[in-house]
Amino acid sequence: MKLVVAATGGVAALKTPSLVRRLAEAGHDVAVAATDDALHFVTRLSLAVAAGTPVFDRDAWFTPDGHARHIELARWADALVVAPATADALASAAHGRGDDVVSALILAGIARVIWAPAMNTAMWEHPATKTNVASLESYGHYVLGPAEGTLAAKGEGAGVGRMLEPEQITRRVGEILLPTQDLAAEHVLVSAGPTREYLDPVRFLSNPSSGKMGYAVAAAAIARGATVTLVSGPTGLEPPPGARVIYTESAEEMCAALARHFGDATMLVMSAAVADWRPAERKTEKEPKQGDEKTLVLVRTPDILETLAARKTTQVMVGFAMETDQGVARAADKARRKQLDFICLNYPGRSESAFGSDTNRVTIVTADGEAEALPLASKRDVAGWILDRARGVATERR
Ligand code: C5P
Repeated sequence: MKLVVAATGGVAALKTPSLVRRLAEAGHDVAVAATDDALHFVTRLSLAVAAGTPVFDRDAWFTPDGHARHIELARWADALVVAPATADALASAAHGRGDDVVSALILAGIARVIWAPAMNTAMWEHPATKTNVASLESYGHYVLGPAEGTLAAKGEGAGVGRMLEPEQITRRVGEILLPTQDLAAEHVLVSAGPTREYLDPVRFLSNPSSGKMGYAVAAAAIARGATVTLVSGPTGLEPPPGARVIYTESAEEMCAALARHFGDATMLVMSAAVADWRPAERKTEKEPKQGDEKTLVLVRTPDILETLAARKTTQVMVGFAMETDQGVARAADKARRKQLDFICLNYPGRSESAFGSDTNRVTIVTADGEAEALPLASKRDVAGWILDRARGVATERR
């Protein structure tokens, strides 16, 4: 992988050259960057020697022939590793600034960002820092640590705020960028997004599902080596490279597409928000606007999970449920009825897990009512946990 390792201004910047060496030993191609403040703690030369390339800093922002290095490096790299990351560096990036080399690389769209914060405990625990970290995670950034341990400032003693050690950062970077191929034997069938139930050629009943959760599951499964078929309602999202994608609109179409692939699948993750009702009739012409009132007759759509459950052999089946109250009991009941191995329960009305949000908070509920509440996290992380669980069920079953 091609990495930019960037130091920002903290005593732990002394360890950045050693991190650069370890990442290079692990087989990565490493370029280095440093903010002005970082260069108070580590020399430009020691970073350049460790990387074997010149340091990207304020003085080297443009190449002699006029190229902007933040743009070039952002296009070149697979990831940016900021170690150490100060509270200020986190704040700048969370607020979309671009006035130092680190925030400029991020604004320039570098593919992935991994932070290894180091700061005083009070600064780490300040609500402003927490909010900034949550924003960065919602952009898909990874935050590693900090750890508890002795802090640098004289008389500070121990606390949370110490940068992870270079070997720990190297291992975590490897896990993030080169995930294990533990799903290589799986065919994961994923449904995502809303359905549309047409009244006439231009009007339909639908819901605000963004499809982000299902697309995150598809992307995470591909990264772990699975064969992925993604059956997607209309979302406007870019499908993850490597997925076989089947676009559908109505619940019936989605049901047919899933049924076609269910036999070959080893896991089904049913995250689509399927309409329960459709207009009894779909007019072939646009309905004229007439009268003050109109009665619409609705009929039930097929319950896709129940339809597929009837053909289940060894597939691991995962559903989603949105409940306003008595969530766990209702979700467990749903899991039993739909023969699900587990169901991911979330609550509407919470902004962190709302339709369209990049984060989610789910509780995993099994048919026998066991519940495990997972923390608020990016949909990508939640997708990873769901797949970990599904893999656990598959391993037990075989
Ligand atoms: O019963 P409820 O709609 O709350 O169940 C939600 C789960 O069932 C989701 O996984 C959803 O994708 C699935 N579902 C389905 N067919 C429907 C409605 C929902 O498979 N007609």
